[in-house]
Amino acid sequence: DKGNHRHFMEKEIYEQPEVISHALAHYVDLGDHTVETSICGAIDFASLRSLAISACGTAYLSGLIGKYWFERYARLPVEIDVASEFRYREIPLAKDQAALFISQSGETADTLASLRYCQEAGLKIGAVVNVKESTIARESDAVFPILAGPEIGVASTKAFTCQLTVLASLAIAAGKLRGTISSDEEKQLVRSLSEMPRLMSGVLNAIEPKIEALSRELSKYKDVLYLGRGTSYPLALEGALKLKEISYIHAEGYAAGELKHGPIALIDENMPVIVIAPFDRFFEKTVSNMQEVAARGGKIIFITDGKGAAASKLPTMETITLPNVAEIIAPMVYSLPIQLLAYHTAVFMGTDVDQPRNLAKSVTVE
Ligand code: M6R
Repeated sequence: DKGNHRHFMEKEIYEQPEVISHALAHYVDLGDHTVETSICGAIDFASLRSLAISACGTAYLSGLIGKYWFERYARLPVEIDVASEFRYREIPLAKDQAALFISQSGETADTLASLRYCQEAGLKIGAVVNVKESTIARESDAVFPILAGPEIGVASTKAFTCQLTVLASLAIAAGKLRGTISSDEEKQLVRSLSEMPRLMSGVLNAIEPKIEALSRELSKYKDVLYLGRGTSYPLALEGALKLKEISYIHAEGYAAGELKHGPIALIDENMPVIVIAPFDRFFEKTVSNMQEVAARGGKIIFITDGKGAAASKLPTMETITLPNVAEIIAPMVYSLPIQLLAYHTAVFMGTDVDQPRNLAKSVTVE
């Protein structure tokens, strides 16, 4: 049932504040802003030398953001790859590592094969899944449900932000177990997570009209580039994936710092550049990349916050201003304009948004 929405994808975008609340209630203590280390189950983060993460598509990109968090908050090195490569790379593994597999469906063939590879090497296996009865969940030592509810749209939206919510909670718990975050930091991080549902509802209500108008414009272009740094880099990849998947417009995501190593050659007035840049410790660097785009006649769509909008004086095609948020929740909050932009652009293009051509919701063959 789509309720009063035109597509499942739209419904699922709007469900995010609610399903994230459910996930948070399961993983963190919303009253005293702490995380129970028992949420880690059979994964003994305290004694791990490193963590391997593998997944496909959007689930891989949530894992990539998870890598930034595990490394930063738990000082735990993370090896991550798409499952179709991971399973064949003959990665040397040892028992003081654990492996985490992320999958909405829990049935993705390559992800399952990577899991079995790690199992054979004797690693403890954790699964971040939406479908709790799935094969990947059944074959794991620890199951971390994302509690997003059924996701029908082929383009993953709420599963992505719920995966991020779970990964953030696990990274904080791992940091606590490894003694790499103080209890003050723990409280601050969990308080930020707890603010997400309210902030996300506010953003959804505020940005839709502007995004719709912008999408009409974007639907006229053939190529789009997304740029970001830090956790906004995987988000740039996710933005490009979402747009190409449902609107069939060619899109690429790049780490902003890679611009001058190749993609800058593509910049002209025919390729809009979507810059994802909260006012964080990377902001100045990203703005200097934006300058390089502007100097070559590139059209910029700037997704930032109040401070960022005030700090940059560059002309843009459009600026989407979000609230100033803590660094740990920026990937979830900034997912919203990214998802809505892809959604409305696809609606303007007249594509089959929930069932885009050539794609399946669950990829059970290699
Ligand atoms: O069910 P899974 O999470 O394992 O699926 C992985 C990918 O096939 C999936 O995320 C795909 O990339 C989506 N269509 C992206 O929107």
